[in-house]
Amino acid sequence: MEINILNSSKENVQDAESLKQLEYIDKVKEKVDTLSAELGRKLTACVVTFGCQMNARDSEKLLAILKLAGYEETESEDADFVIYNTCTVRDNADQRVLGRLGQCSAFKKKNPNMKIAICGCMMQEQSAVEKIQKSYRFVDLIFGTHNIYKFAELLNTTLDSDRMIIDIWKETDKIVEDLPVMRKYPFKSGVNIMFGCNNFCTYCIVPYVRGRERSRSPRDIIRECEKLAADGVKEVMLLGQNVNSYGLDFKDDDPNKISFAKLLEMVCEVEGIERVRFMTPHPKDFSDELLDVIASNPKIARHIHLPLQAGNNEILRRMNRKYTREAYLELVDKIRTRLPEVAITTDIIVGFPGEDRAAVEETIDVVKKAHFDNAFTFIYSKRTGTPAASFEDQVPEDVVKENFDALLKVVQDSAKDQASKLQGRVENVLVEGVNEHDSSLLTGRMSNNTLVHFPGDESLIGQFAEVSLDECHGFYYLGKLVND
Ligand code: SAH
Ligand code: SF4
Ligand code: F3S
Repeated sequence: MEINILNSSKENVQDAESLKQLEYIDKVKEKVDTLSAELGRKLTACVVTFGCQMNARDSEKLLAILKLAGYEETESEDADFVIYNTCTVRDNADQRVLGRLGQCSAFKKKNPNMKIAICGCMMQEQSAVEKIQKSYRFVDLIFGTHNIYKFAELLNTTLDSDRMIIDIWKETDKIVEDLPVMRKYPFKSGVNIMFGCNNFCTYCIVPYVRGRERSRSPRDIIRECEKLAADGVKEVMLLGQNVNSYGLDFKDDDPNKISFAKLLEMVCEVEGIERVRFMTPHPKDFSDELLDVIASNPKIARHIHLPLQAGNNEILRRMNRKYTREAYLELVDKIRTRLPEVAITTDIIVGFPGEDRAAVEETIDVVKKAHFDNAFTFIYSKRTGTPAASFEDQVPEDVVKENFDALLKVVQDSAKDQASKLQGRVENVLVEGVNEHDSSLLTGRMSNNTLVHFPGDESLIGQFAEVSLDECHGFYYLGKLVND
C-alpha cells in the first residue's frame, strides 16, 4: 500500500462506519479504473485546503480516500476531481475560495469528466450553499463538516450522477474512528483530540460551523498515536479549538473523563513519539496541572499558543473571552517563571466593535508586557449570525487600518527581540525539509517552534539533529550541524 496512509486495510479497521466507507472506496475505484482505461491515462485529483490545522487534517483524510480510489494526486486544479475544503472564519477566506472556484469552471469546460466538490466550514452556512447553488452551478458535490466521514459514499454517488449532490448536516454527536488518512509529512502529524467548540466568543463563527465539543476517547487517541509512531511519526500535534476543555463532555462517572494534562502525559508515554505539540489552549482554563505536566515532560514542545484577542477588559467582556487583561498577564507571568524557555505566541483581533484607540493602546501594552515570541494579527471580520455582527459600534475601516499598523509594529519588535535571545545556543531540531529558497540548506524546527536553516544532507529529513544558532535573521536562524 501507499506510504503514509493509515487505516487503508479492512483487517485493521474496527469502526463499522469506516468499514462501510472502505467498501465505497472499492466501488469508486472500479469507476475510476474503468474511466482511466477508457481515457488511457490516470485520473488526477486535487485537494485545495483553506483554514486551520483541523481543516488540514480533514484534507489528509480526503486525499487518502482519493488516492485509495485510484486517483493520482496533483497540485493543479486542472484535474479530474477537485475538492475545496473551505474556511469561513473571516470574510477574506470566503472570497478566496469563491475566486478559486470561479477559475476552476474554465477547466471543467475543457474536461467533460471533471467533477468539482466543495466542503468544510463555509458549507455549514446556508447562505454560502445558496450562493453556490445559484451562481456556481457547475459544482457537483457539496457537503459540510459533520459528514466528512461519508466522503467516499458521496464521491461514489457523484460519479454516478449529473446533478448537484448536496448533503449538509446541522449537527452530529458522532465521531467516526479509523478513516483512512494520508499524512502530508511522513514524520509529523496532527491528531484530533476533540471536535467543535462551546465557547461562543461573540465574533467567532466556529461554534456554529463545527458544532458542540465532542472529545475522542483517550483510548482512540493513544491508539492513533501508536499507529502513527509505528509508521515513523516522531512528532504529533494534538488538535482542538480549546484543548483545555478536553473530556469535559464525558459524564462524571465515565472512565474516559480525564483532563487534557493527563492525556498529554499519556501521549508522551507512546514509544517513538519524541515531541508533542498542542493547539489551542484557551487562557480562561489553563490549569496548574497542565503547567506541571509540561514542566516535567521534556517531550512536550516549549511553545504555547495562547490567544489574547484583545487587551482591554471591556472588549474582552464583549468578546465573551471570560478573562481580564490582568488574569492573562498573570498567566503569562506564571508560564514564564515556571518554563523560562517556552515561546508564547498569540492571536489578536483589531477592530472589534467599540474598540477605540485607547483600547488598542491597552492591547499594545499587553503585547509589550507579555513579550510575545510571535503573534497573528487579524482585522475583525463581521460574521453573519454571530452576536458581534449586530453590535452597533462597528469601527470604520480607516481607523481599523491605522490601529492594525500600530499594533503590527509592536508585535514585530517583540518577536525580533525574543528570537535574538537564542543566539549562540545549540538546539535539538526536527529536520522538516530542504529550504524553499536555497536548496543547499535544510530547515529544522526547534521545540519552541522557531525555524533554523543549516547546510546538511537530505537524508536527515525526518530526523532530530543538534544545530547551532549562529545568526538570527528576525524570525529564523542560520546555523550549522553540531556533531555530538
Ligand atoms: N479556537 C482558537 C482559534 C480559532 S480561530 C481560539 O480560541 O483561540 C483562529 C483565530 O482567528 C482566533 O484566535 C481569532 O483571533 C481569529 N478570528 C476568529 N474569528 C474572527 C473574526 N470574526 N474576525 C477576525 N478574526 C477572527
Ligand atoms: Fe472561536 Fe472562541 Fe471557540 Fe476559539 S474558543 S473557536 S475563538 S468561539
Ligand atoms: Fe476556518 Fe473552520 Fe478552522 S472556519 S479556522 S477552517 S474550524
